[in-house]
Amino acid sequence: MKNILITGGAGFIGSNFVRYLQTAEPDLHLYNLDSLTYAGSLENLKDLPDPSLHTFLQGDIGDSALVNRILREYEIDTIIHFAAESHVDRSILGPAAFVQTNILGTFTLLEAAKNAWAGNYNGKRFHHVSTDEVFGSLSPTDPAFSETTPYEPRSPYSASKASSDHLVRAYFHTYGLPISVTNCSNNYGPRQFPEKLIPLMVLNAVQGKPLPIYGDGKQVRDWLYVEDHCEAIHLVLKQGKDGETYNVGGGNQPYNIDLVQEICAILDELHPQGKPHANLMTHVQDRPGHDRRYAIDITKIHAELGWQPRHDIASGLRATVEWYLQNPQWAQAVTGKEEYANWLNANYARR
Ligand code: NAD
Ligand code: DAU
Repeated sequence: MKNILITGGAGFIGSNFVRYLQTAEPDLHLYNLDSLTYAGSLENLKDLPDPSLHTFLQGDIGDSALVNRILREYEIDTIIHFAAESHVDRSILGPAAFVQTNILGTFTLLEAAKNAWAGNYNGKRFHHVSTDEVFGSLSPTDPAFSETTPYEPRSPYSASKASSDHLVRAYFHTYGLPISVTNCSNNYGPRQFPEKLIPLMVLNAVQGKPLPIYGDGKQVRDWLYVEDHCEAIHLVLKQGKDGETYNVGGGNQPYNIDLVQEICAILDELHPQGKPHANLMTHVQDRPGHDRRYAIDITKIHAELGWQPRHDIASGLRATVEWYLQNPQWAQAVTGKEEYANWLNANYARR
């Protein structure tokens, strides 16, 4: 790895990864291509460990002329592809952007990599960051998702990610493009856009707003602290084999409702105004097609690369709540726009 292109590096996981990699490998030059949708923010890239080795490029992964130029001009040898439309509820209300970015955008990047690296795949890698949602929904007794679990996506978001996964693997089998894929579970931590469960609950609770629990709140997610995810991707880049897929999960699987209770308990202690915050919990109409349960089997990445998560939900959740309480200016910058108010209205007003 020498010249790295990170796509979507102004978003939640991408910006955490930029920080992680600058600390783990301080000599690498990182090029960060991000179109700055509602979910991306330059706020996420303030105070980087080494700004001189980070070049931000605003642009769309679907712009093939731009992507071709970046790969050649900066002699990119490694692509770490985070850019995506990432929120399930938005994919239900507006699926077109998901097809455009997640499928066509990934296709554009793959074509550009194939062309730029043609004839010399040595030392190159296209790493695709994907999700456990491609595997569908588990019953309470089903075994956890492994790398060989059949794909059964059930939302426009997960269908678009599944499609992009298939394209990435097709470029390996057909053209020999050196790829790797990680399918990971729900990330949480600093700088997550407050449309997702954990930051939404923290910020709503602090403001005394209702905490909307979809349906009975007995859905299960496999929570993974974002730094652990970054470490897994780094290991796959360095030691993972071309063409391989690795599942990455946190091993923490509470019911949503218990997770929100826990957030409220932490806030009661750290931010006692408005306590007990659990009084704000409100059951609302369920998400259509709501996946009931996810769980990830990390046997492969543990056995082959020695990875396992370092954070459990108790320590990770407390660190996360503390970060949001300590960074109100970040929350104001990313939620203070009209777009955010419009989203809350579109998703919650009629629930
Ligand atoms: P995010 O929504 O916080 O960030 C996405 C970033 O991509 C934003 O900065 C946005 O501006 C950028 N982007 C969107 N469309 C673009 C385009 N056409 N061109 C260039 N940039 C574009 O997402 P996230 O939560 O950080 O997720 C990152 C990746 O990880 C996604 O591929 C997602 O599917 C995957 N993933 C996320 C989770 C999770 O829990 N957050 C779990 C598993 C997998
Ligand atoms: O599993 C990995 C996926 O996790 C990623 O691929 C997605 O990019 C990421 O958004 C996330 O998807 P989820 O739909 O699981 O995350 P979200 O935070 O939107 O919801 C988590 C759970 O909480 C889910 O069961 C729905 C529920 N929920 C969510 C919101 C926003 C609520 O009950 N109320 C809410 O207001």
